[in-house]
Amino acid sequence: MTQTLPSIEIDSFWLPRKASTVAQELDWAFYYVYGWSVLMFIGVVAAMLYFAYRYRRRTDKDVTSEIDHSTKLEVIWTAIPVAIVVSIFFVGLKGYIDAMVAPASAYEIQVTAQKWSWVFTYPNGKISMNELAVPKDRPVRLIMSSKDVIHSLWIPEFRIKQDVVPGTYTTIWFEATEEAETALLCTEYCGTSHSDMLATVKVLPEDKFQEFLEDGADMDMPPAELGKKVFASSGCGACHSLEGVNGVGPALNGIFGKTHEMSDGSQVVVDEAYLRESITVSNAKLVKGFPPVMPVFKGVLNDRQVDALVAFIKSQSQ
Ligand code: CUA
Repeated sequence: MTQTLPSIEIDSFWLPRKASTVAQELDWAFYYVYGWSVLMFIGVVAAMLYFAYRYRRRTDKDVTSEIDHSTKLEVIWTAIPVAIVVSIFFVGLKGYIDAMVAPASAYEIQVTAQKWSWVFTYPNGKISMNELAVPKDRPVRLIMSSKDVIHSLWIPEFRIKQDVVPGTYTTIWFEATEEAETALLCTEYCGTSHSDMLATVKVLPEDKFQEFLEDGADMDMPPAELGKKVFASSGCGACHSLEGVNGVGPALNGIFGKTHEMSDGSQVVVDEAYLRESITVSNAKLVKGFPPVMPVFKGVLNDRQVDALVAFIKSQSQ
């Protein structure tokens, strides 16, 4: 089961589309530094070529003339670059402050990163995995922490990036300006599936966002069907095949009722309790030959979602 990958729109020439309020200012800072760099490069290379030609050695008897100190020249070539660098500092500082200090009215969403997925918890208790829904034209502040190693949350179209660290909280904010979908990436190498640690950002108009928050449509779905949805949205398929091919984790079809050998040599019958434990505490029992890399889903999936997953995995053995 493959998850549809979110994509990034490229605006104009080479930068991603600007889809947040701070994007304009950060792009301006980028182009400001970039413009000076190009000018400096052209100036230095042109001067170098000119001097190499103008003062080339013409005869074997040529000697270098006496080179003396010039205060005027030294003041000029110190003062101008200092002025440029100081101006870059202030352009950068303004953008940085605007990007770091969230408006007091910002809507807060909790972000939990773990190898290798993103979990978003909304103020009303709604949880979504690898999918961040946000209201359009409203400041949103992310309060982020990691369950294991350092990850880093990056939304290129919003021009925001912030490390997500275990044992503490980091925050970042944005205000989305385009009603569209975009990509959220992990941009700190965090192990085998780092490059699959992606989420879709859905920018919704206010009424659709409220609908998303109150989405209880799952409630009357048959468990196995809901389980299929949870399996897809939780990214289980990244490691667990349903076609009998072992990946990072064991394939999950046809396993129910079978006896599996664990890494400590014990034998375990695959039943409901074992499946539940393997989802919630994941590495409590480890199938022989597989690494202990599965994330813990306790507190991430609610009881109903775990029941549904168990029912779905069971249905793959019938
Ligand atoms: Cu998480 Cu890279």
